[in-house]
Amino acid sequence: MEKKKRSTFSGRVGFVLAAAGSAVGLGNIWRFPYLAAKYGGGIFLFVYLILAATFGYTMIISETTLGRMTQKSPVGAFKKAGAGKTLRIGGWINAIVPLLIVPYYSVIGGWVLKYLFMYIVGDGDELATDMSNPNAVSFFERFLGSSTEQVGWFLLFATFTMVIIFLGVRNGIEKVSKFMMPVLVILSIMVVVYSVTRPGAIEGVKYFLIPNFSKFSWMTVVAALGQMFYSLSVAMGILYTFGSYMKKDVDIENSTVKVEIFDTLIAIISGLMVIPAVFALNGGQETTLKAGPSLMFISLPNVFDSMGFGRGIGILFFLLVFFAATTSSVALAESIVSTFEDEFHLSRVKASLLVSFFVALLGIFSALGFNDLSSIKILNLDILDFFDFLTNSVMMPIGAIATIILILKVVKIEKIEEEVMLTSKFRRKDMYKIVLKYFAIIFLLIILVTSVLNTLGIISI
Ligand code: PFF
Repeated sequence: MEKKKRSTFSGRVGFVLAAAGSAVGLGNIWRFPYLAAKYGGGIFLFVYLILAATFGYTMIISETTLGRMTQKSPVGAFKKAGAGKTLRIGGWINAIVPLLIVPYYSVIGGWVLKYLFMYIVGDGDELATDMSNPNAVSFFERFLGSSTEQVGWFLLFATFTMVIIFLGVRNGIEKVSKFMMPVLVILSIMVVVYSVTRPGAIEGVKYFLIPNFSKFSWMTVVAALGQMFYSLSVAMGILYTFGSYMKKDVDIENSTVKVEIFDTLIAIISGLMVIPAVFALNGGQETTLKAGPSLMFISLPNVFDSMGFGRGIGILFFLLVFFAATTSSVALAESIVSTFEDEFHLSRVKASLLVSFFVALLGIFSALGFNDLSSIKILNLDILDFFDFLTNSVMMPIGAIATIILILKVVKIEKIEEEVMLTSKFRRKDMYKIVLKYFAIIFLLIILVTSVLNTLGIISI
């Protein structure tokens, strides 16, 4: 009975585009370039690629296969796979993560919408900051300070996400991904062409693509590890859920490899959109390269403002970021709706309403954390940053460790192998086993420990 009710993707393309849509998000376009800029360019890219092809791939295929094998979202999957009481908590952690992420992710999605709107109405120049004046307050800071703006744009983005969820798997998430993902690729190639042809940009291309081994440090590995985890959308229930919507005749290996490659290519393309443009602006000044999260919301508008076609390129750029953010946020919301449907036996509409309520509530808190509620700090973090820390640095590594224990101790690797080999050759099988048995938990503990120490101010990444 249940099987009949469960939604499915129409075929392989549905899974690939929806999973790639979930992976390609703000992580690729906003986070990857600023980390690459900060951690030495080419060497960061080099380390990232190795990690994505080994550890990242291992996580993607593990979760997707568990989802397809059990036909359940994470909580049900842990139960059905035979996890004991304690280990089942791991299933819940994987399931709850997206409920905590969608609200704050939608606040950032709201910022993207605001910037897109500003470029469309021709006010893009207001987004740039007067760099000759050291006391100038950036547009971004003023924008964060306004509670009405923050809540308004957040609600707009969140509503957009939830409308797609109400439309269902095939009409909502699958259709939206099929349209948005190809458009995203075309737009990003246009922006890359613009960026790398600016005078002085070629130095940025070299900085980003050619590894300079003297810039290698332990922190390069730690940052790349965390980013890879964030970018591939592992440990947030999504791949379990999408795996459970995957038909039994779909080639798991082939589909997951496509997701891995697509996500990585978009990260590289994003590096090429952002880093050369920043070099063209000021020759790759150390301070701009190390700007961190504000690279996209403060530095990039300055780049667009100071060069030709600023308005047009601003529209293209923020439109593609908006698409990327939307497909990710829809995937996150889908994952939690699916858990509510499975575990509390709610109808899709009821589950979606419940999720909308939580998202609105938590999101408003995050949006107000920069203004009306700015006195509230948790571990010295703004509310939004706290949710980001709690999910990415604490819950996700623990959730992923639970997945690995589930496979090694309960399900057994051989069963995963069998499920994958129902439809695939499983070319990286040996690598998969080695990473899973000997490296994955260590990598995850490194992410967990370093990011907690970083947030507590004991080390600095
Ligand atoms: N993988 C997506 C991204 O790179 O943006 C989705 C995502 C990852 C959302 C991590 C939120 C998050 F905390």
